[in-house]
Amino acid sequence: MFRFLFLFYSIVIIAGCAVKAQEDSAQNKVEELLAQMTLEEKIGQMNQYSSFYDVTGPAPGAGYQKDRYEHVKNGLVGSMLNVRGAEQVRKMQEVAVENSRLGIPLIFGFDVIHGFKTTMPVPIAEAASWDMDAVEQSARIAAVEASAAGLNWTFAPMVDICRDARWGRLMEGAGEDPFLGSAVAAARVKGFQGDNLAAPNTIAACTKHFAAYGFAEAGKDYNTADIGLSTLYNVVLPPFKATVDAGVQTFMNSFNELNGIPATGDVFLQRDILKGEWGFNGFIVSDWGSITEMLYHGFASDGKHASEIAANAGSDMDMESHLYLKHLKELVDEGKVDNEHIDDAVKRILTVKHNLGLFDDPYKYCDVTREKNVTMSKEHLDASLDIAKKSIVLLKNENNMLPLSKSGKKIAVIGQLADNKNSPLGNWRLAADDNTAVSVIEGLGEYGNEISHAQGVKFFEGQEAFIHELKINNEDESGIPEAVELAKSSDVVILVLGEHGYMTGEGRSRAHIDLPGKQQKLMEEVYAANSNVVLVLMNGRPLDLDWANGNIPAIVEAWHLGTQSGHAIAQVLYGDYNPSGKLPMTFPKNGGQIPIYYNYKNTGRPGPSGLVFWSHYIDETNMPLYPFGHGLSYTTYKYSDLQVNVDSLSGVVNVSVEVANTGDMDGDEVVQLYIRDKVASVTRPVRELKGFEKVTISAGSSKTIKFKLTKDQLGFYNNQGKFVTEPGQFDVMVGWSSKDGVVSNFTLGDNFQF
Ligand code: NOJ
Repeated sequence: MFRFLFLFYSIVIIAGCAVKAQEDSAQNKVEELLAQMTLEEKIGQMNQYSSFYDVTGPAPGAGYQKDRYEHVKNGLVGSMLNVRGAEQVRKMQEVAVENSRLGIPLIFGFDVIHGFKTTMPVPIAEAASWDMDAVEQSARIAAVEASAAGLNWTFAPMVDICRDARWGRLMEGAGEDPFLGSAVAAARVKGFQGDNLAAPNTIAACTKHFAAYGFAEAGKDYNTADIGLSTLYNVVLPPFKATVDAGVQTFMNSFNELNGIPATGDVFLQRDILKGEWGFNGFIVSDWGSITEMLYHGFASDGKHASEIAANAGSDMDMESHLYLKHLKELVDEGKVDNEHIDDAVKRILTVKHNLGLFDDPYKYCDVTREKNVTMSKEHLDASLDIAKKSIVLLKNENNMLPLSKSGKKIAVIGQLADNKNSPLGNWRLAADDNTAVSVIEGLGEYGNEISHAQGVKFFEGQEAFIHELKINNEDESGIPEAVELAKSSDVVILVLGEHGYMTGEGRSRAHIDLPGKQQKLMEEVYAANSNVVLVLMNGRPLDLDWANGNIPAIVEAWHLGTQSGHAIAQVLYGDYNPSGKLPMTFPKNGGQIPIYYNYKNTGRPGPSGLVFWSHYIDETNMPLYPFGHGLSYTTYKYSDLQVNVDSLSGVVNVSVEVANTGDMDGDEVVQLYIRDKVASVTRPVRELKGFEKVTISAGSSKTIKFKLTKDQLGFYNNQGKFVTEPGQFDVMVGWSSKDGVVSNFTLGDNFQF
């Protein structure tokens, strides 16, 4: 035993020394370089340009490309975004390394948001899997492909909590809950960065958008966020903090202002919280042009002023404002920006480059053979299918209409999206080749039934390019009769409706969250002709499905699932995969209920009351259509025997529950634990997710699921930003959604080890 302990501690000490030695060597290398750099070269490291390939923001003016090239040559650029491909990156890296005075390599950033060429489900869909291994694996594969294409930095994960279905960018995040959001955020960082950032197949992650971008008023992109401290500390910030704890290398700030201060110029967020309190050692990149945008916010008078504010607030790198290069030197000379701030920013940037191993080999990510071998490999496609299946949520399944039988049926597949091979790739899939997704028709074609297709309505048209808006066709219903005829002559109808992939994402906020175009009409007329309808939804946000839920017997939420979309959907429809996804966001009954979320506050008038004077609508219920955490299975589960035991001495509340699979199909169930802190010095929500576990339970058997709650789950941030845990009564619920489960309660006494 002693020998074992000795060995164990020796390994720990040696590993600790190795990490320390690595840190020292990084620091030495960086200090050495810094000592040789001119002020212009330092500022150059803080400058980031986009390339000629993809523009993910408003295009800059003419003459831009030539300047940019010269600046790279002269060591006035620290990073490029949107250059990709092993060969292209190598060429650009050569310009920096071979020509500039100090040969400092560039760091190459790209929006690797959900997969790379092999496209994974959009992040909101992946979050619906509640499967952290799968989420990590998805990011891992994205990193393997992206790093083989020369990249070493992704602008992900996006961890913005969002309660507003109108906001187009919620498809990039993990939904409305900070606990689930934190787990997903950390898993994605681990996936991208792996265990060894210097390995050629790992890339630096970038947590964005710091902060509160998901709270854009009215769900309108880029809009003002104005939220209280309690929401900031308890809802918005936790996923950001989780990524710092997971070792994320970089952060991106945000377009929005928060409580009157544009995030890019916010000292409190960037210097006090992130770099101060949380001890974040990486660097912060601005969002695209967000330093310039402080002029429009009315926070800076001109470009020079904006640069001064941003640099002093801790924005280390200027993405595409072209202002740091222009103004920082003068600002330092005038004493308006401290030399120390510049040195600190440059050290942070160089350290990340060092951590990536770029100083050892600037071309380590530029291996064309590896690029060829790994890109869209069978292994990656299989993993994409695996996570796609896990992301699907069965919303309704009346009379067990699903799964469908595999033969002998005439099936009508109706909807424009059903044979689309581009839309399922979703938005933010810059590296994917167009039309590389498996369509629903193709996926169903692998099975035996007789399949016929009608578009019904053509609800979108226009160029399917990233920067173009799709036109929603609100007029054309000429295809409905054909679809109705087909429905009449079929046994089952699979209606594939929703949003095109480009209807969500940046700049794609919607005022109406219904089915776009004439799809609602199509659905109602098809249903009138044949009520054996399975509705398959492809969308990137919660939609208003009240009519569908009241009428259509089976509803499947299939998001935008990436490359393997059609296969995943077919496997679920035919029961080769038993659906296990759960909603990461509340679906309203009606757009007027937005923002609607499960972890709301009780108010002083929770009702219901016989009088009108309680917190409600007179024309709509307070209930959502589908609550957070909702998702059905082809089997059934029974929860029982909830046990709660408070171990005050160790500061742990032990919770266990029995979950039995009472149906006749094996299944994966997401067991969810919620608490309510009944009375607190800052009011707490009626329910808060504090634990979950996805477990496989075979038909007819049961499992005991155990949770441990410590002060980390039982406490909250007060309005001074201090984490506190208070004695008192708590409710606990363990269940299959945020609405349903088995309940108990416990009390934390003064003797509890907080
Ligand atoms: C703007 C987006 O807000 C951000 O998320 C993205 O990473 C950058 N453009 C770069 O494309």
